Amino acid sequence: MTTSNLNYRTGYEPLLPGVYIAPYPATYPEFAGDPEAASAAALAALRTLFATVIAPSKVASILIEPVIGEGGYQPAPASFLVALRELCDEHGILFIADEVQTGFARTGRMWGFEGAGIVPDVVVMAKAIANGLPLSAIATSRARMEQWGRSAHGSTYGGNPVACAAGIAVLETIRDERLVENAAARGGELRAGLDRIAAEEPRIGDVRGPGLMIGVELVKDRETREPDGALAKALIAKAADLGLLVLTCGMSGQVIRWIPPIDATAAEISEAVEIFGEALRSV
Ligand SMILES: Cc1ncc(COP(=O)(O)O)c(C=O)c1O
Repeated sequence: MTTSNLNYRTGYEPLLPGVYIAPYPATYPEFAGDPEAASAAALAALRTLFATVIAPSKVASILIEPVIGEGGYQPAPASFLVALRELCDEHGILFIADEVQTGFARTGRMWGFEGAGIVPDVVVMAKAIANGLPLSAIATSRARMEQWGRSAHGSTYGGNPVACAAGIAVLETIRDERLVENAAARGGELRAGLDRIAAEEPRIGDVRGPGLMIGVELVKDRETREPDGALAKALIAKAADLGLLVLTCGMSGQVIRWIPPIDATAAEISEAVEIFGEALRSV
């Protein structure tokens, strides 16, 4: 389903039918960081889709990442998620939160959707769920699961005991080591450090994101907000040379994605910010 990059679609056709894509409420570059403007535009586009392409009565579900990952580390404005929840309720549409990247404390809350104070009907999760062991899950109410029928959704490795044991250990560790709180606190420090660098660096157009899921968008010029994927590429290579691993995301690879371990310490965050600043000065 993803449209974050052609890389994930080309050569895989035919893709899943019956999937309609609405624009994500990205706040940057188009809305210069204004969440309400981004939210209003994306809602208007969704309403147009419902009026011209697919009737909402025919829509089974709407799937959204509370913070889009591959697509450029864009947090959905809380007002958008609230409006989407209302729209789903109005039309009997299931709200599916894709928490594959945002789940398990990444955003400084256990789940990304909590930031908007909404409750989805279905949550899909993977990646951090077993800290690297292969596991994923679909969570919903028991009543909805029972509608599905026993073994209607199976997979060769589903319910693997070792992966499930790792999943339980992850949950216990997040609870016992208070890692949700740690991600929120370290995220605040990381954000403050990156904001400090951005204040003096015209090649940074935007710093955004909750908790330890922060995107730094690089631009050729702050006024035009033209993305600079080449700079991002050079920057992550330089940072790696200096001992800091960061990735890129976004359509042109122009966003540096910060996704440090949720048990990072304050000293590690501070060192990372320092290395990032040094790398930026030398590219
Ligand atoms: C947000 C999000 N959802 C879903 C997926 C795909 O997950 P899977 O590999 O389990 O199909 C990814 C993979 O990167 C992802 O980032």
